[in-house]
Amino acid sequence: MKVTAFISVISIFIGVAGIPLVWGDSDKHEKWQEYSRRSTGVALLDNPVYQQECGDCHMAYPPGLLPVSSWSRIMSGLEDHFGDNAELDKNTHTEISEFLTKHSSDKSDYRRSRRFTVVSDSGDAGMRITGTPYFLHEHDEIPPKLVEGNKEVNSFSNCNACHRYAEQASFREQDILIPGFGRWDD
Ligand code: HEC
Ligand code: HEC
Repeated sequence: MKVTAFISVISIFIGVAGIPLVWGDSDKHEKWQEYSRRSTGVALLDNPVYQQECGDCHMAYPPGLLPVSSWSRIMSGLEDHFGDNAELDKNTHTEISEFLTKHSSDKSDYRRSRRFTVVSDSGDAGMRITGTPYFLHEHDEIPPKLVEGNKEVNSFSNCNACHRYAEQASFREQDILIPGFGRWDD
């Protein structure tokens, strides 16, 4: 009886003392993940509806890659979306529009998103991440044979063909692997 009581006192003590330890650890881990994404990517958001509706033909682009002006233009022309029909029912349309608006690059405090806030003012390029001056500047040395001429890439719009963690919203240079070519050393 006495021993049992002793053990329970001990385990209560360990339990209580353990709580801050566990909290401290997961807190540190989250902070670290957040820190590394902040320096290499844009906000990572989990939205199954967006993922399903806008991740079918290409990766579901993280909202922090375009400002609200571009997202609203895209959302108001889904019946002719770069030559495809990507129309949505009214409720889904509203939900996705609100999601994109809320997390657009101009609302984000991620440094990378800030750079994706300036968009081209020439026609359809204003609806493209690949049309932003920042994107063009970052990719201007990559020859077309590695993109359009590369069956495994096809288009710069397929971020995830080269950026292995694009779908985790991370664009670290160390994680770039161009299919059929390899790492990019500049
Ligand atoms: C039926 C297929 C399809 C669906 C569904 C679709 N898209 Fe697209 N999307 C395309 C095609 C095709 C392109 C042009 C790709 C290219 O030029 O290589 C494109 C391009 C884009 C681009 C520009 C990419 C770039 O070059 O920077 C954005 C942004 C985009 N889509 C957002 C969305 C959003 C938001 C949704 C959901 C509402 C969506 N797409 C759903 C087919 C689709
Ligand atoms: C053909 C492969 C390829 C595709 C497709 C591609 N990228 Fe890149 N990206 C690169 C390479 C290579 C670099 C590094 C360029 C350099 O440093 O000269 C780069 C650099 C970047 C950078 C800067 C990284 C840094 O740390 O400075 C960002 C951000 C980026 N890409 C985002 C995107 C997005 C968003 C898409 C899709 C809309 C995309 N990329 C599509 C190959 C690609």
